[in-house]
Amino acid sequence: MNATLVSAEGWFPASWRSCPVRQMPAYADPTQLKEVEARLAGAAPVIAIDQAARLREATADLAEGRGFLLQGGDCAESFDDPVAQQVAGIVGLFDAMAERLKPAIDGPLVEIARIAGQFAKPRSALDETHGGVTLPAYRGDIVNGMEFDAPTRKADPSRMIRAHMQSVGTAASLAAARGNGRTIFTSHEALLLPYEEPLTRHDPVGRWWATSGHMLWLGDRTRQLDGGHVEYLRGIENVVGVKCGPSLTPDELLRLIDRLDPRGRPGKLVLIGRFGARKIGELLPPLMRAARGRPVVWTIDPMHGNTSMVGDRKVRRLPDILAEIDAFLAIAAAEGVHGDGIHLEMSALDVTECIGGRGPASIDELDKNWLTTCDPRLNRAQAIDLAAHVAALIG
Ligand code: PEP
Ligand code: CO
Repeated sequence: MNATLVSAEGWFPASWRSCPVRQMPAYADPTQLKEVEARLAGAAPVIAIDQAARLREATADLAEGRGFLLQGGDCAESFDDPVAQQVAGIVGLFDAMAERLKPAIDGPLVEIARIAGQFAKPRSALDETHGGVTLPAYRGDIVNGMEFDAPTRKADPSRMIRAHMQSVGTAASLAAARGNGRTIFTSHEALLLPYEEPLTRHDPVGRWWATSGHMLWLGDRTRQLDGGHVEYLRGIENVVGVKCGPSLTPDELLRLIDRLDPRGRPGKLVLIGRFGARKIGELLPPLMRAARGRPVVWTIDPMHGNTSMVGDRKVRRLPDILAEIDAFLAIAAAEGVHGDGIHLEMSALDVTECIGGRGPASIDELDKNWLTTCDPRLNRAQAIDLAAHVAALIG
């Protein structure tokens, strides 16, 4: 990597290393970590820079009020995913949802999957205790394994190589799955910076792009202004998502926007609200007012703010999910903002992870086909019904 390509603003792919970083695993062997990073620096890009540039053009249209963004997929991918089936499933689900949404949309439907790199998970607790034994929390297959034993829970740098190889295959299958240039773009949370940095490459005119995915987003737990994640994301040309959770103040949002996109490029930033159905009415309007005049795209993630714990089980209910979407669209209309899209955790399979609609009727039924490695997802029927519901609202 050419470390002399430092931007006028003092950014380079490794500049995050001088900032405090949250949610980073502690790797026991720094030499092994360095070897893995060096291998990734020479590894194939997961996506092509010109496609990431195409997504920038598509979201620029959204920022100008044309079209709609559908983003969705697993909470976390897994090394056990059968990639061919996973890609066929997500393409089929996007097609079915697009069929509902397109007639209602003025402009193009921009489709972005949470796929081909969505392997790292932020965790609220560092550790997990079962039967008196305390081990590090599971942080996604790119960091450690889910099984509750000490060797599996140890953060292993070589998992980044495996995640990269799987992502290259997944992205290639996804690109090949549809004809006529109708691409589903890829996205993931930019959480594991030792993975992102070596996959950051420059184009012929010296601009830096993340080649780990078309769109990367900043998680709600890692959006500190002086933190390493904001530092990394401010330097790449890709479309950058920003999760906006209940604790984000209007002032912080403005400073984040200024830091991540000081030049105010249309569609460069996608703001993804995730407040919960009960809080959105109070929290979103001041944020929309603060961002007024900035050429951002506003979307809603109705999943992460509508999660409650019942025992040690994560519970999400479809009525809450729909209520947050309804509130988002109503607030956007009242504020004179174009409500540009939705961000979902969803599966193409008939899983039983979210309660309501064409899914389990109660908590007792969640075990029937609970397959997620992290958060509960809408099943295929629930996702399609949700798309029809949104189409009826925006049409
Ligand atoms: C996610 O999208 O999987 C996630 C962890 O979201 P958030 O950062 O909004 O909690
Ligand atoms: Co999630």
